[in-house]
Amino acid sequence: MTRYNALKGIQDILPPEIYFWQKIEEVAKDVFSAYGFQELRAPIIESTDIFIRSIGETTDIVEKEMYTFPDKAGRSITLRPEGTAPVVRCYVQNHLYDLASPQKFFYSGPMFRYERPQKGRFRQFYQIGVEALGTSDPKLDAEILSMLRLFLERLNLRGLSYEVNSIGCEKCRPDYKKALLSFISDRINGFCPDCKRRYEFNPLRILDCKVKECIKLRVGAPKVTNFLCKDCREHFDRVLSMLELLDFPYVINPDMVRGLDYYTRTTFEVTSKHLGAQNAVAAGGRYDSLVEEFGGPPTPAVGFAIGMERLAELFKSSDKFDIPVPKVFIATIGEPAEKEGLLIAKRLREKGIWVEIVYAGHSLRSQLRRADRLSARYVLIIGEDEISSGKLKWKRLTDGSQGEIAISQVLEFFSNQ
Ligand code: HAM
Repeated sequence: MTRYNALKGIQDILPPEIYFWQKIEEVAKDVFSAYGFQELRAPIIESTDIFIRSIGETTDIVEKEMYTFPDKAGRSITLRPEGTAPVVRCYVQNHLYDLASPQKFFYSGPMFRYERPQKGRFRQFYQIGVEALGTSDPKLDAEILSMLRLFLERLNLRGLSYEVNSIGCEKCRPDYKKALLSFISDRINGFCPDCKRRYEFNPLRILDCKVKECIKLRVGAPKVTNFLCKDCREHFDRVLSMLELLDFPYVINPDMVRGLDYYTRTTFEVTSKHLGAQNAVAAGGRYDSLVEEFGGPPTPAVGFAIGMERLAELFKSSDKFDIPVPKVFIATIGEPAEKEGLLIAKRLREKGIWVEIVYAGHSLRSQLRRADRLSARYVLIIGEDEISSGKLKWKRLTDGSQGEIAISQVLEFFSNQ
């Protein structure tokens, strides 16, 4: 018989792992809602053009990593490699710019990139992201960074580093590109074939290359922050001063350019020293021209996305979170007890209490073993004697204490535990 496996680089998220994910999603919703972000659910598939136009034709994502295929009518479809472009498409399509600015959204769901799988890098991975559209106010940049930090702190994560940069705008970038090209041109022969191509088509991407030789050759390259125009400089300075006001522990990294072309001005990354090579937990920045690029009115915007797999990995080892377990396991001996157990379970479950019962006639011993394996907090034992006396035995598995309660008191008893 053929046994099937999930595709390479694609994993199942099972219990108990899923509890960490659910907790992260719950905390994200709480924190982001306090900042006025509302959930938006965009589709997982979009026209391929959307990603080419936004992420950039000569980025790794578009050149090598997209799941792109024709649909039955021959249209080119792509499984979203990220969430910003779909949100911008949705914003423009639904004229959300007519509503009060800024509009603030959060989203979560799977993204797809055909990358080489490794620890912390998957072909289907999940992001929680936020996008705020409609103001260039640097206060918003500082505010969403501060929101991201609050979220990560709520999850008790430590050892994180917040790197920020400004990569300027279309006014100042040409000067920087020129300076970078002239620096690279002297040593272009030593760069990897990809960087040689980037030199022609998208020189900023050279700063993003992870090949050792290229990293060495880049040492001493001009810094984008020295080329910012007056407006971009002022914007960046105001972002930084507001981060200081908010007591935000940033580090400026002038080499950070990010792997997507839509960014303007502020960019940032949150990295963890506990994750190995794929150490970016979250990343984002401004994209002030993208809405216009998609046919909307000029609308500056800023956002970020968090990688769920990496975050869950960190959250798991921060051990501040108890995995949910059944509250009550009902063990029964004999058919009348089984029926009584089913009725009690129904009543408790109606109150939202997690109750497990036993199936297909097991001995009391094997039932208790199962309760143990499930880490149930209480076992309720029902046999013939209990039914005739109307009193049930309970045992708390966490400390071995035990007692008796009347059947009529069961609901009250467990509601208060
Ligand atoms: P990104 O840097 O491409 O940005 O991805 C954001 C985060 O998603 C990364 O920092 C990482 O945690 C996670 N991630 C990316 N690729 C993978 C992968 N193959 N496997 C596991 N995790 C991964 C964006 O996607 C932008 N849309 C962020 C943004 C929103 N900028 C503005 N708004």
